[in-house]
Amino acid sequence: MHVHKYEKIWLIFGITTLIVFLSVVGVSAFYAGNQPPSCLTVIDPEKVDSTAPFNEPGLKKVEGKDWDYELVFVAQAFAYTPGDVEVPLGAKVKVIATSKDVIHGFEVAGTNINMMVEPGYISEHITTFDKTGEYLILCNEYCGAGHHMMMSKIKVVE
Ligand code: CUA
Repeated sequence: MHVHKYEKIWLIFGITTLIVFLSVVGVSAFYAGNQPPSCLTVIDPEKVDSTAPFNEPGLKKVEGKDWDYELVFVAQAFAYTPGDVEVPLGAKVKVIATSKDVIHGFEVAGTNINMMVEPGYISEHITTFDKTGEYLILCNEYCGAGHHMMMSKIKVVE
């Protein structure tokens, strides 16, 4: 079978990029331990209010973990609880969120926090806020008539 020279180059290029991309994903997932924010921890969406830690949304200092604080959010149409929260500058924070009704978004504008918040699942993201200021939390999954009003705020203070 005759394969044209340019076709050969293109095939080698395609296979090489595929191997590179799969290696990057593989190293990131299995060596660096990166997971999607919805790491398949499940929760009964009917019992969110009575299930820890969602029975006490907000910021909590924790001991003996790889992070200093846990910041717990409950999303429901069309608001987050808490509606705004203060976080100390430089603290390592694990953001934990779930939804009581439909799929919501959890995007913290100006950071790389962007999670999908699904009913029945717990989404988590560990981060450090190293700049003071106000960070807007927005819902970026269309969730109904009040979707555009769904927001919260993280205030990073010294
Ligand atoms: Cu909640 Cu859009």
